[in-house]
Amino acid sequence: MSTPIRIAPSILSADFAKLGEEVRAISDAGADYIHIDVMDGHFVPNITIGPGVVKALRPHSDKVFDCHLMISPVDPYLEAFAEAGADIITVHPEAGAHTHRTLQAIKALGLKAGISLNPGTPAKMLDYYWDLLDLVLVMSVNPGFGGQSFIESQLGKIEAIRGKMDKMGLDIDLQVDGGVSADNAQRVIDAGANVLVAGTASFKGGSSQYAANIKALRGKA
Ligand code: DX5
Ligand code: ZN
Repeated sequence: MSTPIRIAPSILSADFAKLGEEVRAISDAGADYIHIDVMDGHFVPNITIGPGVVKALRPHSDKVFDCHLMISPVDPYLEAFAEAGADIITVHPEAGAHTHRTLQAIKALGLKAGISLNPGTPAKMLDYYWDLLDLVLVMSVNPGFGGQSFIESQLGKIEAIRGKMDKMGLDIDLQVDGGVSADNAQRVIDAGANVLVAGTASFKGGSSQYAANIKALRGKA
């Protein structure tokens, strides 16, 4: 696997009182994607960011805006996130009855589409979605909060999905989200991930540390 490793800092761990500045700083520090965790207090037990904030942040960075929607229902909000400037929209299959239709709708808006698997959701779930996917996100914590511990059992799932993608000749992102740090990044990469989401590990220490934090997450590369 020769895909370059991409780092997607989750702004959930940024200083919300100066979010534009934080997005600029992390972009300048070498972030590849800006990972935006959207939570509704219903599908997950936390409330975060809506399309209005995404729109306000858009002028602050030319990086890929990677919107991870942990909301239910999701379909009524897709257009608003597209208009706000999302580049990728990732959804959870548990968040709606018709995930295939949701992915079709994301593609119809001209965006990249991703599906996110909770720690208890099997990789087999992906079987009939491949033709619609630009990204698969493996959750290595239960969604809802930053700062949780990496769930080791997800390494096997990452390996299995990478194996399947290679077998099918698919060139799509395999993203891992939750508890990723400089300590486990190389193992996550070795398992087959090529996009690492990291909130705590990206934003720790303040803006003078962001470039070093991102470099440490890239593993040996
Ligand atoms: C959890 C979110 C993650 C989280 C990552 O529901 O999807 O993106 O913010 O934060 P850390 O890296 O702190 O685990
Ligand atoms: Zn996320």
